[in-house]
Amino acid sequence: MTLDLRSVDDAAELARAAADIVVDVVTTKPSALVMAATGETPMGTYAELVRRRAEGRLDSSAMRVVQLDEYLGIGPDDPRSLYGWMHRSLVAPLGIGADRVIRFDSEGSDADRAARDYDREVESGGGIDLAILGIGVNGHLGFNEPPSDAGAPTRAVDLSPDTLTSNAAYWGGRTVPTQAITAGMSMILSARRILLLVSGPSKAEILDRLLRSEPDPSLPASQLTAHPDTVVLADRAARGA
Ligand code: PGA
Repeated sequence: MTLDLRSVDDAAELARAAADIVVDVVTTKPSALVMAATGETPMGTYAELVRRRAEGRLDSSAMRVVQLDEYLGIGPDDPRSLYGWMHRSLVAPLGIGADRVIRFDSEGSDADRAARDYDREVESGGGIDLAILGIGVNGHLGFNEPPSDAGAPTRAVDLSPDTLTSNAAYWGGRTVPTQAITAGMSMILSARRILLLVSGPSKAEILDRLLRSEPDPSLPASQLTAHPDTVVLADRAARGA
Protein backbone atom coordinates (compact mmCIF):
# COMPACT_ATOMS: atom_id res chain seq x y z
CA MET A 1 0.00 0.00 0.00
CA THR A 2 1.30 3.48 -0.70
CA LEU A 3 0.92 6.25 1.83
CA ASP A 4 -1.67 8.98 1.20
CA LEU A 5 0.74 11.93 0.97
CA ARG A 6 -0.86 15.36 1.04
CA SER A 7 1.43 18.23 0.21
CA VAL A 8 1.04 21.58 1.88
CA ASP A 9 3.07 24.72 1.53
CA ASP A 10 4.29 25.51 4.99
CA ALA A 11 3.79 24.87 8.70
CA ALA A 12 0.76 27.19 8.87
CA GLU A 13 -1.05 25.38 6.07
CA LEU A 14 -0.10 22.06 7.65
CA ALA A 15 -1.69 23.15 10.93
CA ARG A 16 -4.93 24.15 9.18
CA ALA A 17 -5.12 20.95 7.11
CA ALA A 18 -4.44 18.80 10.19
CA ALA A 19 -7.02 20.71 12.24
CA ASP A 20 -9.58 20.12 9.46
CA ILE A 21 -9.10 16.37 9.89
CA VAL A 22 -9.29 16.51 13.71
CA VAL A 23 -12.44 18.64 13.58
CA ASP A 24 -13.98 16.23 11.09
CA VAL A 25 -13.29 13.25 13.40
CA VAL A 26 -14.60 15.04 16.50
CA THR A 27 -17.68 16.37 14.71
CA THR A 28 -18.55 12.87 13.50
CA LYS A 29 -17.91 11.38 16.94
CA PRO A 30 -17.89 13.99 19.73
CA SER A 31 -16.37 11.54 22.24
CA ALA A 32 -13.55 10.55 19.86
CA LEU A 33 -10.37 9.33 21.53
CA VAL A 34 -7.47 11.25 19.98
CA MET A 35 -3.84 10.29 20.51
CA ALA A 36 -1.86 13.51 20.73
CA ALA A 37 1.89 13.47 20.15
CA THR A 38 4.11 16.11 21.67
CA GLY A 39 7.20 17.50 19.93
CA GLU A 40 7.39 20.74 17.96
CA THR A 41 5.55 19.52 14.87
CA PRO A 42 1.96 19.26 16.16
CA MET A 43 2.06 22.51 18.18
CA GLY A 44 0.70 24.62 15.31
CA THR A 45 -2.14 22.12 14.86
CA TYR A 46 -3.00 22.27 18.56
CA ALA A 47 -2.95 26.09 18.48
CA GLU A 48 -5.28 25.98 15.47
CA LEU A 49 -7.66 23.64 17.33
CA VAL A 50 -7.68 25.98 20.33
CA ARG A 51 -8.45 28.90 17.97
CA ARG A 52 -11.29 26.98 16.33
CA ARG A 53 -12.78 26.12 19.69
CA ALA A 54 -12.69 29.81 20.67
CA GLU A 55 -14.46 30.64 17.40
CA GLY A 56 -17.13 27.99 18.05
CA ARG A 57 -15.94 25.76 15.21
CA LEU A 58 -14.83 22.86 17.42
CA ASP A 59 -16.84 21.34 20.24
CA SER A 60 -14.32 19.56 22.46
CA SER A 61 -16.74 19.06 25.35
CA ALA A 62 -16.78 15.27 24.97
CA MET A 63 -13.45 14.77 23.17
CA ARG A 64 -10.99 12.43 24.87
CA VAL A 65 -7.21 12.32 24.53
CA VAL A 66 -4.50 9.75 25.10
CA GLN A 67 -0.82 10.45 25.39
CA LEU A 68 1.69 8.76 23.12
CA ASP A 69 4.83 8.59 25.21
CA GLU A 70 6.50 9.81 28.37
CA TYR A 71 9.87 9.87 30.06
CA LEU A 72 10.22 7.48 32.95
CA GLY A 73 10.69 8.91 36.42
CA ILE A 74 9.44 12.36 35.39
CA GLY A 75 6.30 13.75 37.04
CA PRO A 76 3.75 15.96 35.26
CA ASP A 77 5.07 19.11 36.95
CA ASP A 78 8.64 18.58 35.75
CA PRO A 79 9.36 20.95 32.84
CA ARG A 80 10.52 17.93 30.82
CA SER A 81 7.25 16.02 31.25
CA LEU A 82 5.67 15.22 27.90
CA TYR A 83 2.27 15.04 29.55
CA GLY A 84 2.88 18.51 30.99
CA TRP A 85 3.59 19.75 27.46
CA MET A 86 0.45 18.07 26.10
CA HIS A 87 -1.58 19.51 28.95
CA ARG A 88 -0.41 23.09 28.35
CA SER A 89 -0.72 22.99 24.58
CA LEU A 90 -3.93 21.00 24.12
CA VAL A 91 -5.68 19.48 27.11
CA ALA A 92 -6.14 22.59 29.27
CA PRO A 93 -6.94 25.07 26.46
CA LEU A 94 -9.51 22.66 24.99
CA GLY A 95 -11.11 22.26 28.43
CA ILE A 96 -10.56 18.50 28.53
CA GLY A 97 -10.94 17.31 32.11
CA ALA A 98 -8.79 14.63 33.75
CA ASP A 99 -11.63 12.11 33.36
CA ARG A 100 -11.18 12.36 29.58
CA VAL A 101 -7.41 11.87 29.56
CA ILE A 102 -5.49 8.60 29.38
CA ARG A 103 -1.87 8.96 30.44
CA PHE A 104 0.98 6.81 31.65
CA ASP A 105 1.76 6.33 35.29
CA SER A 106 5.39 7.13 34.50
CA GLU A 107 6.52 7.90 38.05
CA GLY A 108 5.88 4.52 39.64
CA SER A 109 8.51 1.82 39.90
CA ASP A 110 6.65 -0.71 37.74
CA ALA A 111 6.81 0.38 34.10
CA ASP A 112 5.44 -2.97 32.88
CA ARG A 113 2.34 -2.47 34.93
CA ALA A 114 2.00 1.12 33.73
CA ALA A 115 2.14 -0.17 30.13
CA ARG A 116 -0.51 -2.83 30.77
CA ASP A 117 -2.79 -0.35 32.59
CA TYR A 118 -2.49 2.10 29.70
CA ASP A 119 -3.34 -0.54 27.09
CA ARG A 120 -6.29 -1.71 29.15
CA GLU A 121 -7.61 1.83 29.54
CA VAL A 122 -7.37 2.52 25.80
CA GLU A 123 -9.06 -0.75 24.95
CA SER A 124 -11.86 -0.33 27.49
CA GLY A 125 -12.30 3.22 26.15
CA GLY A 126 -13.15 1.78 22.75
CA GLY A 127 -9.76 2.25 21.05
CA ILE A 128 -8.17 5.21 19.34
CA ASP A 129 -10.21 7.08 16.73
CA LEU A 130 -7.39 9.29 15.48
CA ALA A 131 -3.65 9.29 16.20
CA ILE A 132 -1.81 12.57 15.56
CA LEU A 133 1.86 11.72 15.18
CA GLY A 134 5.20 13.27 14.31
CA ILE A 135 8.22 11.39 13.04
CA GLY A 136 11.72 11.33 14.50
CA VAL A 137 14.76 11.95 12.32
CA ASN A 138 15.54 8.26 12.89
CA GLY A 139 12.04 7.20 11.76
CA HIS A 140 10.64 6.57 15.22
CA LEU A 141 6.96 6.96 16.14
CA GLY A 142 6.52 7.84 19.77
CA PHE A 143 9.55 6.21 21.36
CA ASN A 144 9.39 3.15 19.15
CA GLU A 145 13.05 3.43 18.26
CA PRO A 146 14.57 1.44 15.39
CA PRO A 147 14.28 -1.50 15.23
CA SER A 148 10.57 -1.77 16.11
CA ASP A 149 8.23 -4.07 14.24
CA ALA A 150 4.47 -3.75 13.80
CA GLY A 151 3.81 -5.95 16.82
CA ALA A 152 6.00 -3.97 19.24
CA PRO A 153 3.98 -3.68 22.47
CA THR A 154 3.51 -0.72 24.78
CA ARG A 155 6.67 -0.82 26.87
CA ALA A 156 9.58 0.86 28.60
CA VAL A 157 12.45 1.67 26.22
CA ASP A 158 16.00 2.98 26.30
CA LEU A 159 16.20 6.08 24.11
CA SER A 160 18.54 6.04 21.13
CA PRO A 161 21.46 8.48 20.91
CA ASP A 162 19.70 10.28 17.99
CA THR A 163 16.61 10.85 20.07
CA LEU A 164 18.58 12.04 23.10
CA THR A 165 20.35 14.60 20.92
CA SER A 166 17.12 15.84 19.27
CA ASN A 167 15.25 16.06 22.56
CA ALA A 168 18.05 17.86 24.40
CA ALA A 169 17.14 20.91 22.31
CA TYR A 170 13.73 21.13 24.02
CA TRP A 171 15.01 21.34 27.54
CA GLY A 172 17.60 24.07 27.45
CA GLY A 173 20.53 22.04 28.66
CA ARG A 174 18.66 19.97 31.27
CA THR A 175 19.56 16.31 31.30
CA VAL A 176 17.33 14.29 29.01
CA PRO A 177 16.02 11.17 30.72
CA THR A 178 17.44 8.07 29.05
CA GLN A 179 14.38 5.87 29.49
CA ALA A 180 10.80 6.32 28.43
CA ILE A 181 7.52 4.50 28.08
CA THR A 182 5.76 4.46 24.75
CA ALA A 183 2.56 3.29 23.16
CA GLY A 184 3.67 0.28 21.16
CA MET A 185 3.58 0.12 17.38
CA SER A 186 0.70 -2.34 17.75
CA MET A 187 -1.31 0.22 19.73
CA ILE A 188 -0.50 3.04 17.30
CA LEU A 189 -1.43 0.87 14.31
CA SER A 190 -4.74 -0.06 15.96
CA ALA A 191 -5.90 3.59 15.60
CA ARG A 192 -8.77 3.85 13.15
CA ARG A 193 -7.19 6.87 11.47
CA ILE A 194 -3.63 8.14 11.60
CA LEU A 195 -2.34 11.58 10.75
CA LEU A 196 1.43 11.84 10.37
CA LEU A 197 2.71 15.42 10.39
CA VAL A 198 6.06 16.11 8.76
CA SER A 199 7.46 19.61 8.71
CA GLY A 200 10.76 21.35 8.08
CA PRO A 201 14.04 20.56 6.35
CA SER A 202 15.35 18.33 9.15
CA LYS A 203 12.71 15.76 8.15
CA ALA A 204 13.43 15.76 4.41
CA GLU A 205 15.77 12.80 4.49
CA ILE A 206 13.58 10.56 6.64
CA LEU A 207 10.43 11.48 4.68
CA ASP A 208 12.17 10.56 1.44
CA ARG A 209 13.18 7.19 2.94
CA LEU A 210 9.68 6.64 4.34
CA LEU A 211 7.99 7.26 0.99
CA ARG A 212 10.22 4.67 -0.66
CA SER A 213 10.09 2.07 2.11
CA GLU A 214 8.28 -1.21 2.53
CA PRO A 215 7.33 -2.04 6.13
CA ASP A 216 10.74 -2.35 7.76
CA PRO A 217 11.57 -2.48 11.50
CA SER A 218 14.67 -0.34 10.93
CA LEU A 219 12.31 2.50 9.97
CA PRO A 220 9.42 2.14 12.42
CA ALA A 221 7.20 4.73 10.66
CA SER A 222 7.27 2.56 7.53
CA GLN A 223 4.81 0.23 9.29
CA LEU A 224 2.23 2.89 8.45
CA THR A 225 2.34 1.75 4.83
CA ALA A 226 0.33 -1.30 5.95
CA HIS A 227 -2.28 0.78 7.83
CA PRO A 228 -5.58 1.28 5.97
CA ASP A 229 -6.24 4.94 6.80
CA THR A 230 -3.10 7.00 7.21
CA VAL A 231 -2.66 10.52 5.87
CA VAL A 232 0.82 12.02 5.71
CA LEU A 233 0.75 15.81 5.69
CA ALA A 234 4.11 17.21 4.63
CA ASP A 235 5.16 20.77 3.99
CA ARG A 236 7.43 21.90 1.20
CA ALA A 237 10.58 22.00 3.32
CA ALA A 238 10.04 18.42 4.48
CA ARG A 239 9.51 17.34 0.88
CA GLY A 240 12.85 18.91 0.00
CA ALA A 241 11.02 21.03 -2.57
P1 PGA B 1 9.42 16.95 16.55
O1 PGA B 1 9.59 15.50 17.15
O2 PGA B 1 7.99 17.12 16.19
O3 PGA B 1 9.84 17.87 17.63
O4 PGA B 1 10.31 17.03 15.34
C1 PGA B 1 9.10 14.41 16.46
C2 PGA B 1 9.59 13.12 17.06
O5 PGA B 1 10.76 13.04 17.47
O6 PGA B 1 8.82 12.15 17.11
